[in-house]
Amino acid sequence: MPTIFLTGGSGYIGTHTCLTLLNAGFNVIVLDSNINSKKRALKKVLEIYKLSSFNFKNQLFFVEGDIRNENLINEIFEKAKNKKMPINAVLHLAGLKSVRESINNPLEYWDVNVGGSIKLFRCMIKHNCHTIVFSSSATIYGIQEIEDSIKEDGSINPINPYGENKVTIEKILKNIFDGSKENWRIANLRYFNPIGAHSSGLIGEEPRGIPNNIFPYICEVGSGRIDKLQIFGRDWPTRDGTCIRDYIHVMDLAEAHKSALDYLNKKDSEFINLNIGTGIGTSVLELVKTFIKVNECNLNYEFAERREGDSYHLVANNELALQTLNWKPQKNLEDMCRDGWQWQKFNKEFLENTSSINLQKLI
Ligand code: NAD
Ligand code: UFG
Repeated sequence: MPTIFLTGGSGYIGTHTCLTLLNAGFNVIVLDSNINSKKRALKKVLEIYKLSSFNFKNQLFFVEGDIRNENLINEIFEKAKNKKMPINAVLHLAGLKSVRESINNPLEYWDVNVGGSIKLFRCMIKHNCHTIVFSSSATIYGIQEIEDSIKEDGSINPINPYGENKVTIEKILKNIFDGSKENWRIANLRYFNPIGAHSSGLIGEEPRGIPNNIFPYICEVGSGRIDKLQIFGRDWPTRDGTCIRDYIHVMDLAEAHKSALDYLNKKDSEFINLNIGTGIGTSVLELVKTFIKVNECNLNYEFAERREGDSYHLVANNELALQTLNWKPQKNLEDMCRDGWQWQKFNKEFLENTSSINLQKLI
């Protein structure tokens, strides 16, 4: 079975993607510094996976370390080769992702996101691994003043260092693709707004401190840890005055990674940018109301000023992804709200619950 090197595999999207890869039979090597994740997250992945596999421990390897440590990445490629499971492809998710933090600490963001990616790509070249799926973001489209859904060839106009990091990494990958004598296979997945969690409630998003993004914030308000949600703006030119986003279930996003790998594996050479969203716009008020209805809970909210730097309408045109990948989002907004809440309840109750499963070390 092919071996996938999954950077950032302990994080929110990484854990769900890891589970999807294991279920598809891949061997997975995770590298994560755990700067924004908990060590137990991957153990929970194995807890879910062991229900469907006897061999559950031998497919996943974990390395704790920094993406900027080039020696370590080289060692991972070498160890994998020695174990007769050479790395066939990379899924590159590791990075820092807070827009606000990227404005306050741009050097750290350029160093980790761009510097770390360059080191990873250098190691890939050295070890003849030329297939990569990269976690890009809809943030690269910047502030949109249009109400149409966005296509991949829409204007790229990042408005913060985090967005500029993502555009730069996409450009570096294009330079590698154009300039290399080897055939590279590269897919930049531009995620829209991933929310929700695995339906078991065992893995999900665990932001540090007070969340910035709407969905984890709603969960915190729902569970009473935060008093009230502020809805930023009620006078936007939308159907109910609140901003519209394209929310996608994190398990559908995880599946898109597997589909992207399958797609690239069938190609000799490819460079492709793909919007990963549902193509469905949901307003903040619609999200809040769906959450309340599905979970039969209370949610205090009030309207506040518009948030600086917000687009009022950010929805994916996902036609290219639908046509190219053998993929289609399966879950609706109610599933996202239900599964996200399930995780919040489990997470809250069993926060300190440690797992008896030990992760296999590669190094
Ligand atoms: P996350 O923070 O949960 O996961 C990222 C993981 O990378 C974490 O486990 C973190 O510990 C790890 N990491 C950070 N710096 C590292 C370093 N120097 N070395 C090794 N590991 C490091 O975030 P996520 O939501 O799972 O996002 C995954 C990727 O998707 C990121 O690249 C992010 O920019 C991108 N993305 C996320 C969203 C979103 O809304 N969640 C949207 C678009 C793109
Ligand atoms: N919102 C509120 N109250 C809050 C938080 C958010 O009303 O407390 C609103 C925002 O104004 C926006 C919507 O909820 O209209 C979604 O906001 P998020 O912060 O959850 O998401 P964004 O679309 O602004 O940005 C997120 C990530 C980016 C990423 C982008 C697209 O923060 O990094 O999704 O993937 F690029």
